[in-house]
Amino acid sequence: MTVSSPVDDVRAQYEALPYPPRDPREEAVRLITGTPSHILEVNHYLFAGRLNFNRPFRALVAGGGTGDACIMLAQQLADRRCPGEIVYLDLSTASRAICEARAKARGLRNIVFHTGSLLDLPDMNIGQFDYIDCTGVLHHLPDPSAGMKALVSVLQPDGGIGVMLYGQYGRSGVYPLQEMLRSIAPPSMALEDRIAMAKRLIRFLPTTNLFRRNPYLNDHVTGGDAGLYDLLLHSCDRAYTVPEIATLASDAGLRVVAFLEPVRYEPSTYMSDPVIARQASSLPLVERAAFAERLAGNLRTHVFYASRAGFDTVARPEDTSAIPVLRDMDAAKLAGGLQPGAPLVANLDGFPWRAQLPALAPRIIAQFDGRRTVAEIYTSLGAQGALPQWEDFYAQFEDLYVKLNGVNHLLLRFRT
Ligand SMILES: C[S@@+](CC[C@H](N)C(=O)[O-])C[C@H]1O[C@@H](n2cnc3c(N)ncnc32)[C@H](O)[C@@H]1O
Repeated sequence: MTVSSPVDDVRAQYEALPYPPRDPREEAVRLITGTPSHILEVNHYLFAGRLNFNRPFRALVAGGGTGDACIMLAQQLADRRCPGEIVYLDLSTASRAICEARAKARGLRNIVFHTGSLLDLPDMNIGQFDYIDCTGVLHHLPDPSAGMKALVSVLQPDGGIGVMLYGQYGRSGVYPLQEMLRSIAPPSMALEDRIAMAKRLIRFLPTTNLFRRNPYLNDHVTGGDAGLYDLLLHSCDRAYTVPEIATLASDAGLRVVAFLEPVRYEPSTYMSDPVIARQASSLPLVERAAFAERLAGNLRTHVFYASRAGFDTVARPEDTSAIPVLRDMDAAKLAGGLQPGAPLVANLDGFPWRAQLPALAPRIIAQFDGRRTVAEIYTSLGAQGALPQWEDFYAQFEDLYVKLNGVNHLLLRFRT
């Protein structure tokens, strides 16, 4: 008799249903970028904006799946002619084949592929890494803490990690459904029959059901059968609160340096009462983020960066030699699209976020070319008209920075 382990069950799922579903032919049309692991974010949050791309950079994508983070990072390093290497690791050979086909379609030669479990990293002899991506994986391990420690065993002392874990409150409704399906569509049933049963159950849920009342869970709609299976039929799946994430990190010797997008983790985003907003905003990062997640109630996933305790790894705008870099956006288009007096708006999974931008915002944004420093942007404003006082300019820049960085559109780097 063969006994399957939880890791075997997870492997079997992703061999049958690689997730997320990706078509390598799409590489000809678009590069999928995301969070974490966008190279601008990695530089900003983990290397204080001071990564030198002329030096070798090694990244591990642990549980790389069909390749989103791996392909994004490999392409971004190749675009910068960085002599770096991305190591892809996953249990599933079917997922790896998709990632390999995507890399081939792009002509990327900076990826090394491995099949195996991240739990075996301490004994794999694949060297140390400056950066490790692990998104949507640790919450599928029987012991996520052991997984986190295995990752940290191959992390350079000054390296950092980017992680995505499920969020407990935002997934409300998922776990009762998983329990119900475990009893009426157990793993012994054929995969297609389990999926069919899950579809029926969703269709006939009463209006009072928590899953039905949670409008922000759409993986089963956008991710096809693989998404549905991942959401409701997974053999091993748990969710985290912010304090639990802080503990997971600190048990492995890491400290969370940022949650993304930052604005979602600020109590003042959701709280219009000024007394409560001020009180909660004075808390340290993790407590503030925990307050915000309880208040918002809609954070389905948590993305965070963590580095070894003791390092301040986040780029700060106080240094005027910082270079503001827009993420995947055109400065002229953004500046031109801002109506005087109109707020910046975003839909944070149902929460309507609005931020009033400072009067100088369009003029400052128009100067963001990814090369000019904050000080140089100030000087170049003079060539365009009346030069404001430095203090006035800087206060407005900082205000703009907090808002655009808050929704992950603006990051910092330094000349190296
Ligand atoms: C939900 S998918 C996420 C894939 C990818 N990280 C992404 O975000 O697109 C989870 C992946 O983790 C892999 N995985 C799960 N447990 C693993 C383990 N112990 N070691 C390596 N990979 C694992 C699965 O095979 C699957 O491809």
